[in-house]
Amino acid sequence: NAADEAEAQPAGVNYDESKVPAYTLPDPLAPGGGPRVQSADEWRERGRPATLDLFKRFMFGVIPEGQVITRADLISDHEVFDGKGRRREYTLTLTGPTGRSIAVDILVYTPVDPKRADRSWPAFLGLNFKGNHAVDPDPRIKLCSSWLRPDGDNVVNNRATEKGRGSERSRWPIQTILGRGYAVVTACYHDIDPDYDDGFENGAHALFAEGRGRPRDPSAWGSIAAWAWGLSRIRDHLQTVPEIDPSRVAVMGHSRLGKTALWAGALDERFALVISNESGCGGAALSRRRFGETLERINTAAPHWFCSAFHTFNGKEDALPFDQHQLIALAAPRPVLVCSASEDLWADPKGEFLSALNADPVYRLLGFVGMEAREMPGIGEPILSRVGYHIRAGKHDTTDVDWAVFLDFADRHLTATIRP
Ligand code: GCU
Repeated sequence: NAADEAEAQPAGVNYDESKVPAYTLPDPLAPGGGPRVQSADEWRERGRPATLDLFKRFMFGVIPEGQVITRADLISDHEVFDGKGRRREYTLTLTGPTGRSIAVDILVYTPVDPKRADRSWPAFLGLNFKGNHAVDPDPRIKLCSSWLRPDGDNVVNNRATEKGRGSERSRWPIQTILGRGYAVVTACYHDIDPDYDDGFENGAHALFAEGRGRPRDPSAWGSIAAWAWGLSRIRDHLQTVPEIDPSRVAVMGHSRLGKTALWAGALDERFALVISNESGCGGAALSRRRFGETLERINTAAPHWFCSAFHTFNGKEDALPFDQHQLIALAAPRPVLVCSASEDLWADPKGEFLSALNADPVYRLLGFVGMEAREMPGIGEPILSRVGYHIRAGKHDTTDVDWAVFLDFADRHLTATIRP
């Protein structure tokens, strides 16, 4: 299975800094090599749309037009964590122009303030890998009904079992997050588009009259674009949850879902803050460095993640009309936090830092300090400027240490001035 292969970190890849080839990064203020953007207005009118267009055409693919109807059904509503939280489950049924539908189950955790029931909270929204039932062991949570990747006893014949309850809980310290005054919203990414190469027959792609039997456009959307689109549909729904302040929703994600969070944040400016955790190649890491995972490797192991036009850059990184610092710049002037782990060389921590650093000129043009640091910080020394960066000791994962930094970053940039 291609998605499993993508997990393996093969030998023969470059982990030697001295072997990183010389490269020149495209100027983020001159997207596509056009004239240099001179003002904040010009960035909005020309710079940002031109940059977005490059990433659509050559990397993530174009999301089709066409009306999608969403129905939201509340399927459970519980008090949790000794009354300190409330958890609601909704099923969002999304029906596209083809008449086909997908069902996305979402978990919405909100803090409870006994003194102020009318309070609305900032929120973290992120997709999960193994189903909502894996995020929290509470047996009342609906078992994920989507195709799942093999995972020991937790998944049999690609379907969730009771054994998988709570299996991803270490990545979702929900009580801690609620305790810090934030809501948490999550859904399983497979509900939006199952993560395997099926020729774009199922998931969100099936909602639109594209693909199926017909040759696909080289810029037709891949799965990461579908997941990002799904995040926006969940964001639509949050507008109706009174305990959540829709103007303070941070989009976050780990690894392939960190790539997804960056693209969702670029496309949908309603996301007030963006967090990439160890998103690596195709996410925060600069492609031109060819350190750890390369374009050839990612497009071979997971051919459905990006549009097929992106595959033509395999081994030709210098021909790309952009690099990943420009993906970060698409969030400007909103805050973006890029996080790495010291042993996750596959995701190229230094390349992730350099992306954050090189997005800075766009923030400065818009009148903000983006990245405060000029050098990559040491392990455990978070930089919490508007474009932030942190490297934690350890392996590829999302841990309490990461969340502590996400929360500090959000405290500084999402709530500081607005919190009552
Ligand atoms: C693989 C893949 C990465 C991806 C990661 C993940 O390692 O090569 O690009 O980020 O899986 O999503 O966990």
